[in-house]
Amino acid sequence: MKDKNIPLNERIIFALDVDSKEEAKKWVDLLGKQINFYKVGLQLFLAEWFPVVEMITERGHKVMLDLKFYDIPETVKLALRQLKNRNITFATVHGNDPILRAAVEERNGIKILSVTVLTSYGKEDLEEMGFSGTIKDLVFSRAKRALELGCDGIITSGLEASRLRKALGDSFLIVTPGIRPGKNVEIPKDDQKRIVTAQDAIINGADYVVVGRPIRKSEDPVAVVESMQNEIQKGLES
Ligand code: C5P
Repeated sequence: MKDKNIPLNERIIFALDVDSKEEAKKWVDLLGKQINFYKVGLQLFLAEWFPVVEMITERGHKVMLDLKFYDIPETVKLALRQLKNRNITFATVHGNDPILRAAVEERNGIKILSVTVLTSYGKEDLEEMGFSGTIKDLVFSRAKRALELGCDGIITSGLEASRLRKALGDSFLIVTPGIRPGKNVEIPKDDQKRIVTAQDAIINGADYVVVGRPIRKSEDPVAVVESMQNEIQKGLES
């Protein structure tokens, strides 16, 4: 969204999918001038726990803790309590109404983002789990519920973002993983199925894009960040 005053250096949340604090630090040192927002997920958090979060926040950067809490409401609430006073900006939660409600109750200033449907899921994955509807409809109903319950935003692919913006308004956050560089660039989708470019994600209404492998696996990560930030700027201006 254009009017939320999110600086360009926070629009890309870099996924620190690495297995040690040393490796994470190398990336933060390399990209710190360009990127002010880092995602700590299961791999890195299990390896290093809170000290890696501190390493990032002590350098003045923001952290999205992406542990996708999914458990009975009381357990999710107590897990959220563990994040109190850790300087975490976003945390992710999965689940139904009571689970999301429990997370929201215990947010302590952290913005709660509800995972709608993983960007690695395609229609066949939903069918396998017994859902007969479309991904778009499922994302929409899960997003609507999450916002009614008080979540600050949702995680969804850039493909669904525009419908959510039109129907649900501008006041909530959309964070979009599954980003791959420009359409003409040959780049692996990896395990992601619902991918878009950073520019399209922003045009469709995303506030933030989460990017991991396209930067991490590039021979020139700084250049990829630069070109994605240019795309984002274009998306914001269009
Ligand atoms: O490497 P890549 O850019 O595909 O990384 C995407 C990151 O976003 C991963 O860390 C993954 O855990 C995360 N993510 C996702 N889909 C979601 C939520 C988070 O891919 N729905």
